[in-house]
Amino acid sequence: MADKIRVLLSEEEVNRRISEIAAQISRDYEGKAIHMICILKGGVFFTCELAKRLTVPVSLDFMSVSSYGDDTKSSGVVRIVKDLDESLKDKDVLIVEDIIDSGRTLSYLIEVLRQREPASIRLCTLLDKPERRVKKQVKVDYTCFSIPDEFVVGYGLDYAQKYRNLPYIGVVEL
Ligand code: IMP
Ligand code: MG
Repeated sequence: MADKIRVLLSEEEVNRRISEIAAQISRDYEGKAIHMICILKGGVFFTCELAKRLTVPVSLDFMSVSSYGDDTKSSGVVRIVKDLDESLKDKDVLIVEDIIDSGRTLSYLIEVLRQREPASIRLCTLLDKPERRVKKQVKVDYTCFSIPDEFVVGYGLDYAQKYRNLPYIGVVEL
């Protein structure tokens, strides 16, 4: 049976906000090129929509990580399932995530990527659940939306691999 999904952020709201953030990022990186790192699979829809709206030169790479935990809670132990294809040395890296929850995934990942000697690393996320943060040291440079502690799907985010393709952000009503 199909789950009931309540719209939290409409497609128009999400797209409008991505355009705003893209304009801000383009201003901040004026005269530079951005090496975007998409965190698969959730970050893929946001990465594409953001990349299309950036006015500075962009290159893209992809990484897939898995946290040892169930689908709704990350354990803090992160495994790199697919590593980047390219070196980060001297590049201005922008990590693009779907959502920052406890912050465990990103706190681990940023440490790993820093060792590859990029010129800079910034973090951009579509959604943030600040109430859920365990790793307080994770600094998010660009946040499209801060949301309450609810489990959301759509725009790349899944519930048991479903609903990534929804063009809006919704809450699954269980
Ligand atoms: P963190 O390590 O706790 O910050 O976990 C972040 C990851 O957990 C995200 O990249 C998502 O894959 C997943 N996640 C956290 N909250 C949600 C949610 O509300 N919906 C779907 N996935 C989520
Ligand atoms: Mg994710």
